[in-house]
Amino acid sequence: MTAISASMLASDFARMGEEARRMQAAGADFLHMDVMDGRFVPNISFGADVIAAVHKVCSLPLDVHLMVEDPDRYAEVFVRAGATFLTVHAECTPHLQRALRHIRDLGARPGLALCPATPLDAVRYVLDDIDLLLVMTVNPGFGGQKLIPATVEKTREAAALLGDRPIRLEVDGGVAAQTAPLLRAAGANVLVAGSALFRAADAAAAMAVLRGENA
Ligand code: DX5
Ligand code: ZN
Repeated sequence: MTAISASMLASDFARMGEEARRMQAAGADFLHMDVMDGRFVPNISFGADVIAAVHKVCSLPLDVHLMVEDPDRYAEVFVRAGATFLTVHAECTPHLQRALRHIRDLGARPGLALCPATPLDAVRYVLDDIDLLLVMTVNPGFGGQKLIPATVEKTREAAALLGDRPIRLEVDGGVAAQTAPLLRAAGANVLVAGSALFRAADAAAAMAVLRGENA
């Protein structure tokens, strides 16, 4: 079963609560929240208070993607804001295992994100510490980019590495009608989608297409 995580980065920020509920009504499984610090990535988005405000008006589980340096410093505020999954980038901390362990100790599900050029080796020794692996299929920082083709093979290798462990395999960036079948075939089971859902005339139909169901 393919889960859909709707990326709020593509929503109308002036109406985030309504936009979140619109995605819930259309059948999204998670709300994907992209937190950007303007340092690790060249863009600034929103923080824990905004996420907490959306969480108050929409009951979908939150899939929080931290694109921030020194993520360990912020883990607690994002768990308090309502994160179900809290994902940090391997590139953002020299003490990755500690950061992941900390998230689990705080009561959330730890996720590990890898930029397109980061090898899968970063995952090998923290398999016991994660509930989700996020393979970035674009360089993080902006919505609406084109998927980098080499990341499809990387997703396939990630699926083999995870084997039958209960770890979700998520892909993020450039997920659309044309790319979703490749990513599902490669083993991804959580598809993050921003533009493909928010720009669609019918978000429910767009989700069915991404899941490979007949709408
Ligand atoms: C990019 C973000 C993505 C982004 C995806 O750095 O991590 O979650 O919102 O946007 P689309 O689906 O438009 O490529
Ligand atoms: Zn993201």
